[in-house]
Amino acid sequence: MRFALDRREATQGTVDAIAVGLAERAEKEDAFPRALAREDQAYGKFLSGAWERREIRGKRKEVTVFHRADGKGRLLVVGLGPRTLVDTETLRNAAAEVVRALKGRGARTLGFKLASFANERIPAETAVRALVDGAALGGYEFLRYKSSHEGKIEETTVFLGEEAAREEAPLRKALEQEEALVETVLWTRDIANVPADTATPEWLAEQARGLAKEFGVKVTVFDEKKLAEMNCGGILGVGGGSVHPPRLIVLEYGGGARSGKTVAVVGKGITFDSGGISLKPAPGMSTMKFDKSGACAVLGVVRAAAVLKVPPRVIGVMACAENLPGPSAYRPGDVLRTHGGKTIEVLNTDAEGRVVLSDALGYVVEKYHPDQVVDMATLTGACVVALGPDIAGLVSNDEVLAQSLLDASRQTGETVWRMPLTDTHREMVKSDVGDVRNSTELKEGGMLTAAAFLENFVGKTAWAHLDIAGPAICDGPTARYVPSYFNHGATAFGVRLVARYLMTTPR
Ligand code: BES
Ligand code: ZN
Ligand code: ZN
Repeated sequence: MRFALDRREATQGTVDAIAVGLAERAEKEDAFPRALAREDQAYGKFLSGAWERREIRGKRKEVTVFHRADGKGRLLVVGLGPRTLVDTETLRNAAAEVVRALKGRGARTLGFKLASFANERIPAETAVRALVDGAALGGYEFLRYKSSHEGKIEETTVFLGEEAAREEAPLRKALEQEEALVETVLWTRDIANVPADTATPEWLAEQARGLAKEFGVKVTVFDEKKLAEMNCGGILGVGGGSVHPPRLIVLEYGGGARSGKTVAVVGKGITFDSGGISLKPAPGMSTMKFDKSGACAVLGVVRAAAVLKVPPRVIGVMACAENLPGPSAYRPGDVLRTHGGKTIEVLNTDAEGRVVLSDALGYVVEKYHPDQVVDMATLTGACVVALGPDIAGLVSNDEVLAQSLLDASRQTGETVWRMPLTDTHREMVKSDVGDVRNSTELKEGGMLTAAAFLENFVGKTAWAHLDIAGPAICDGPTARYVPSYFNHGATAFGVRLVARYLMTTPR
């Protein structure tokens, strides 16, 4: 989907469909909103008529379509819910609902009337970004394996109208920047959605090489031989059961800069998580093709960093392996030696994410001395149990970093909730035979014991861990309860969040 900005009123354009936002009518408020008078006029007063009949009520997810008598155009009224509760996230969802309502309905071009979406609390610039996010993300479909598909919106125009036209320059900049960012999110979804028969660790390395070539970032791929030389026993252990050998992939944006801040972004890249010898039950196992979502988000973050030229140096690390049972698979009881020398007692081969991350975190901290490390991982089912399908768990040893990520979360709508890390959790991951164990005796607090495990591999570095097991994956039953701009499959959660953080953090 391409985006454009137009100074005129929406009714003056020539798009196939116009969309306007409408807040839910308050108890005593009966008059048709004056802000929509122009559209009402252009559509033969059908809007105000429908309002009077209480046919359109402005409820969230309510989309009503009006047609012009001459057949030249249609207008969609999308409900925004109670006026006082309309926020940026409301706009993202509304834009997604509009694009979804038009899917397969013969429209190729769409226009949003900006003034009907922005309000006293949402500046025009923020509204523009939200409309771009919602339309692009909501319109996404994974088409790689589809022989045919229904037509969809190809170009979306934001109509400024008289008032906002005065701010044209900053609004155009916001639109262009957001378009570049969501384009990267969709690119990331296209990679994360590819199943494990194709998306092997080496295939992910290929994607990283392609990205590096296109955007002039540096890439290094460590194969299984190199990983053995580097004593990366964690990644090698997890990847041992698969014929597709593991890879540690490192991307460097702004690698030449020696001064300023370095942020490392590390991702779990399990191309398929069967659980290994501690095999998972059959129901739902297919969603474990999305267990590489953290590493894919790292790809997206590095691409966004390069496209948007963010201030800090960014080191992206993808820890990629396939977790399968097999003759050379790692087993419960094994003790693995990691890159930094610490040992892991394996008690459950299904707790493999933390094991591959141990080498990746240890490596990036030792080699690059980053100022901050942010990791993203579909790490625990416990996180989904605690926070539900659309919220990521945040664990951090650094107040400033944690707060910055929470700020970025508020701006992007990628919801994050901070969780505690205490000595109880640290105690629970201590091992009798090695340094740490990958699975605990007590199952309670599973998201936090996983974080306590990871903490062992970052030393004193400021670190934030994002458990994205819920929001990274949108499957059948959860689809109803997540934002409208989540697609079915991999959502690329984390890319907008971390990219926004990198855009706003000083060098
Ligand atoms: N990849 C899973 C976690 C997961 C679950 C991601 C559901 C997305 C949706 C992870 O590797 C795993 O299996 N974790 C175990 C850990 C346990 C064995 C300590 C879990 O959460 O049950
Ligand atoms: Zn697992
Ligand atoms: Zn996993």
